[in-house]
Amino acid sequence: MRRIGVLTAGGDAPGLNAVVRAVVKQANIRGVEVVGFMDGFTGLIKQRHKVLDPASISGILPRGGTILGTSNKDNPFNYEGRDLGADIVKYLKELGIECLIFIGGDGSMSVAKSFLELGLPTVGVPKTIDNDLGATDQTFGFDTAIGVATEALDRLHTTAEAHHRIMVLEVMGRYTGWIALHSGIAGGADAILIPEIPFSFDVVARRIIKRKHEGKPFSLVVVAEGARTPEGEMVIARTIADSHEKLRLGGIGNVIGAKLEELTGLETRVTVLGHIQRGGSPTPYDRILATRYGVHAANLAIDAKFGRMVALRSNAITDVPLTEAGVSRPVPHDSDVVKTAKSVGITFGDE
Ligand code: F6P
Repeated sequence: MRRIGVLTAGGDAPGLNAVVRAVVKQANIRGVEVVGFMDGFTGLIKQRHKVLDPASISGILPRGGTILGTSNKDNPFNYEGRDLGADIVKYLKELGIECLIFIGGDGSMSVAKSFLELGLPTVGVPKTIDNDLGATDQTFGFDTAIGVATEALDRLHTTAEAHHRIMVLEVMGRYTGWIALHSGIAGGADAILIPEIPFSFDVVARRIIKRKHEGKPFSLVVVAEGARTPEGEMVIARTIADSHEKLRLGGIGNVIGAKLEELTGLETRVTVLGHIQRGGSPTPYDRILATRYGVHAANLAIDAKFGRMVALRSNAITDVPLTEAGVSRPVPHDSDVVKTAKSVGITFGDE
């Protein structure tokens, strides 16, 4: 029987299971067996895999996380100082894997590219709640993350109003502000602070004070974890030595909360939303996008269209060369979404 492989790598995102399920279902319909590799690249290195039969994917569509496990550590080309690339290609050839599908972010796509160069056929599926991958209009997981952040804002709204406070919500997004931008609009934020638009504390404070004078002595501020202070500093929570992406951001919300309290005289509280944004059941939109991606990826693998990453372009599923995949996609300053936010009075702290 023909065989393809699949793995999930990097930080998890709601919808991973929906992709795995779609890959297995479409492959099985076409008479191809799917082998899953466990815990991201760790499964390739430690040779841990299992055949994904229909029973193994039953009931996983609405489940968060990934039945395969994932990891954002263990680089196959530099594992404890050794390059294991050729050994892994041999292992996969012995298993009869015709193509390996990588479901991951930019780091995983660059590993997929390196395996391709070593002679292992690969296909990519773009995953991340951050929505920051260049070659696609949207990654799966993003819609769920903005849903969680929006619910958090709705909840913060009522308590902010009751106590006449400023509520600062710090959301994820790495070096981009997609989650902050979209949840900020959906949740009726008064200020959205993102890495792509440098902000001034005075501008944000003036907006909050103006609201107070208009009889609204409370405000909601959403800040992306990657937003820089006016001095240009990013706030780093920790460094992880053996991770592909070593820096973990976090803490800018507290910096902003303290300063706004000082400048406005309004009591301020800070919420760091964290991994809640990545957990739990995917939204219907993410389940559908993940299923479309999974079916397309299975077909690319089975039809020997290797070295491609599935992508969403103008609402249609397509594929692009893996070489285009690793580019980060910042929020454009002049995007219509930013303009829309400004048109309903949201400040980005820049004007
Ligand atoms: O890329 C997804 C993401 O959740 C980012 O938004 C965040 O900066 C990072 O991963 C957190 O990583 P970890 O799960 O290693 O703490």
